[in-house]
Amino acid sequence: MISAVLSARSGAPLRGVIRVPGDKSMSHRALILGALATGTTRIDGLLEGEDVLATARAMAAFGAEVVRLGDGEWTVTGSGSFVEPADIIDCGNAGTGVRLIMGAAAGFDLCATFTGDGSLRARPMGRVLDPLALLGARWIGRAGGRLPLTLGGGGLKAIRYVLPMASAQVKSAVLMAGLNAHGETVVVEPEATRDHTERMLRAFGAQVEVSDSAEGRVIRLAGGQALQAAQVSVPGDPSSAAFPLVAALITPGSEVTVEGVMLNSLRTGLFDTLVEMGADLVISGRRLAGGEEVGDITARHSNLTGVEVPPRRAPAMIDEYPILAVAAAFARGPTVMRGIGEMRVKESDRIALMAAGLSACGVGVEEEAEGFTVVGSAGGNHPVQGGVRVTTHGDHRIAMSHLVLGLASSLAVEVDEPGMIATSFPGFVGMMQGLGAEIA
Ligand code: S3P
Repeated sequence: MISAVLSARSGAPLRGVIRVPGDKSMSHRALILGALATGTTRIDGLLEGEDVLATARAMAAFGAEVVRLGDGEWTVTGSGSFVEPADIIDCGNAGTGVRLIMGAAAGFDLCATFTGDGSLRARPMGRVLDPLALLGARWIGRAGGRLPLTLGGGGLKAIRYVLPMASAQVKSAVLMAGLNAHGETVVVEPEATRDHTERMLRAFGAQVEVSDSAEGRVIRLAGGQALQAAQVSVPGDPSSAAFPLVAALITPGSEVTVEGVMLNSLRTGLFDTLVEMGADLVISGRRLAGGEEVGDITARHSNLTGVEVPPRRAPAMIDEYPILAVAAAFARGPTVMRGIGEMRVKESDRIALMAAGLSACGVGVEEEAEGFTVVGSAGGNHPVQGGVRVTTHGDHRIAMSHLVLGLASSLAVEVDEPGMIATSFPGFVGMMQGLGAEIA
């Protein structure tokens, strides 16, 4: 059991070859599409984090047979439609889970009530409820579309929807609903976001057309297509691999390899940015696995230089800015991160919490409405001090980022609520300890 507080301090170099748990985005989608399909879908490499387990329970509540065969090996048997759940669907901490499931459920003639933990109940659901209402779904709940809320589905008519923000969750919710809408659903995304839903829909036998236009990426999906069960292999999550890799980059003498990391280019913005900062980050063994490109990434301790991250790269690394900010704290010169207002509506306000945590550790940070700048320690000339307890507001990535910071700062860094790390990266602490990290 993880204690109420975890502490990270600098020590020996980090060394080793590891694999991180399966990709969270793909794991949610594999369970949901498996439940929407007819027949038995087999999944291996499923992330068994709290977020995904909540989605597995939800799929069972909507009528699928969900069975765990062994480590990361699951089957989902669907009948081609959802039944009305007998109880409230609790999605825990998972924004992806609840938003995609609401989209899928909206396609059926049923009523379902959704809730989540304190963080999820504070997050905006209007971004999904608005397009679902245009498709014909009904909902009732708290002002501003916060959970808990009750959604009524069925009788949907396809829409053409231009995404008002770069969000793969919103895109995916509309596509999932569009599967059971009358007519052709068209989603236009001005900025391309992770495309796991489009890829996986094809793997389940659906026809999805993707093209580029002056307005952006256009995705077309005809309603009424029946999904067929599939075999899904989930590769390692690049968003999880980011933590041990950055830890190696900032800890002198380190060399860490993470094998089998998914390398979809709509997810690898962090690695591109780190290379631009001068990181010794080498990707080898590129191969295809489960319809996605996968490779092994080796990081060695590096002298990093601050950069300005192009705002257009944000969708390809939106969950990685907290750990990039940690790398930036050890770089020479400022790292400027802009066009990332979406970070404020994640599991926590991640701009505010990273700015507060880094400042408390003695790092120079300038916060803006839609971004922040981290002024690095000039390659060790002004060591990062640490020596504080960071409030994580129950956000797993805020906790892991500050623990990595503590591995290279002068004094230990403590985080509260470390149990939340299990939402996305169960085994994080043991894996880091196995590399030599002093986290306890
Ligand atoms: C996700 C999309 C992103 C990301 C989240 C996972 C997904 O959210 O932050 O962790 O699986 O579609 P947004 O769609 O809100 O940007």
